Amino acid sequence: MYKKYEKVKEILKENKQEHLLIWYDKLIEQKREQLLDRILTIDFEQINELYKQAKQKKDFKECKVEPLSYIDKEKLSKEDKEKYEAEGKKEIAEGKYAVVTMAGGQGTRLGHNGPKGTFELEVGEKKPLFTLLAQTIKEANKKYNVTIPWYIMTSRENNYKTTDFFKRHDYFGMGEENIKFFIQNELPMVDVKGKILVDEAGMIKDAADGHGGIFEAMNKDGIIKDMKKRGIKWIFIAGVDNVLAKMVDPILTGLAIENKCLAAGKSVVKSNPKERVGVFCKKDNRPSVIEYTEITDEMAEARDENGELLYGESHILCNLFNIKAIEEIAKNKLPYHSAFKKAKYIDKNGVIVVPEVPNAYKFEAFIFDAFERLDDMAIMRVKREEEFAPVKNAEGVDSPETAAKLYLDYIKNKK
Ligand code: UD1
Repeated sequence: MYKKYEKVKEILKENKQEHLLIWYDKLIEQKREQLLDRILTIDFEQINELYKQAKQKKDFKECKVEPLSYIDKEKLSKEDKEKYEAEGKKEIAEGKYAVVTMAGGQGTRLGHNGPKGTFELEVGEKKPLFTLLAQTIKEANKKYNVTIPWYIMTSRENNYKTTDFFKRHDYFGMGEENIKFFIQNELPMVDVKGKILVDEAGMIKDAADGHGGIFEAMNKDGIIKDMKKRGIKWIFIAGVDNVLAKMVDPILTGLAIENKCLAAGKSVVKSNPKERVGVFCKKDNRPSVIEYTEITDEMAEARDENGELLYGESHILCNLFNIKAIEEIAKNKLPYHSAFKKAKYIDKNGVIVVPEVPNAYKFEAFIFDAFERLDDMAIMRVKREEEFAPVKNAEGVDSPETAAKLYLDYIKNKK
């Protein structure tokens, strides 16, 4: 242990991060060991690089950005629709289809204390988001007479509570062996001077590194291997917070197959230039998404000759990947985006600081940056009222109230 401590001290000195041991003496033995082990896994060069990038503002003018073409599901001919559907159905019924739910987020914006998937939505009775998603998969299992495996990405922070939730719900009767969990990665947060923060417990202030780390995590935790063993070819990946996500979609699958694409995504028409959604586009001729935090006002408001938003195909975080694409993407890290956030920490004098304004950078990779690794991707525009009811904010837009209404209206119309 002493040797390890000395080694860590040396590494920290080299990287000008000596303050990370400020609380070390006050920690219990087990925590001391944990802290040293965590520090030994930090890639300081990477953190330094990310910090430098965070200080420079991103500029999209560096690459050529254009709208991405899409297919409107409503405008498909009857023959095409049937052809795609039949092709997709075949893959699903043959057990070549899996669903992944990205549930690493906490319900912070919702004011919910716990994994976002355990947030209960009032839809006649109170139902957790995970329960609503499970219902969708169970309906598909019945319809196609298969058992679609369900993979759930958690974070270190919410993994226990998530797996415990599923245990308590008896895996929704889907069989423990058909629901698998894996944990996403984390990265330290750094202050404006590039110093890694120490959290309130004296450990490294880590934060989930965004859902773009999903491919690496799937590889590391043996998920890709498990999928291959089961003969899975198509993987639908969606967020946990869209209660209308149509996760088992034969038409989208057939569209990807027909177009010889290794990925496909669904879009809905952006409701207004300010809606907080990413939009599909092409960057240097490759499929991509510009996130709402990064789009310029000028681009968000640009319209085509018909008066429609030029960048109006909203990314609803409902994407389909071929296993070959996932394996390929998992080989290399996706780029990180930085967000400037408020983060509680212990300063170099050992005082707990609760900032009132943002003070630290958080680094996150986005799943849709993976699209740029693909030559092409099929985009299918679907109806918002059928497939997009996100639960994001406690009140107002994309709140439990709006999502529950959309959900209940959809159920009513389906009958
Ligand atoms: C997201 C998309 C945006 C899209 C919108 C549609 C991102 C960065 N942007 O925005 O393009 O238009 O949804 O609703 O995703 N998650 C993890 N781990 C993480 C971070 C997020 O699993 O480290 C999961 C969350 O649990 C959630 C989903 O990813 O299910 C979306 O994350 P969130 O931060 O809510 O993204 P939005 O800002 O809403």
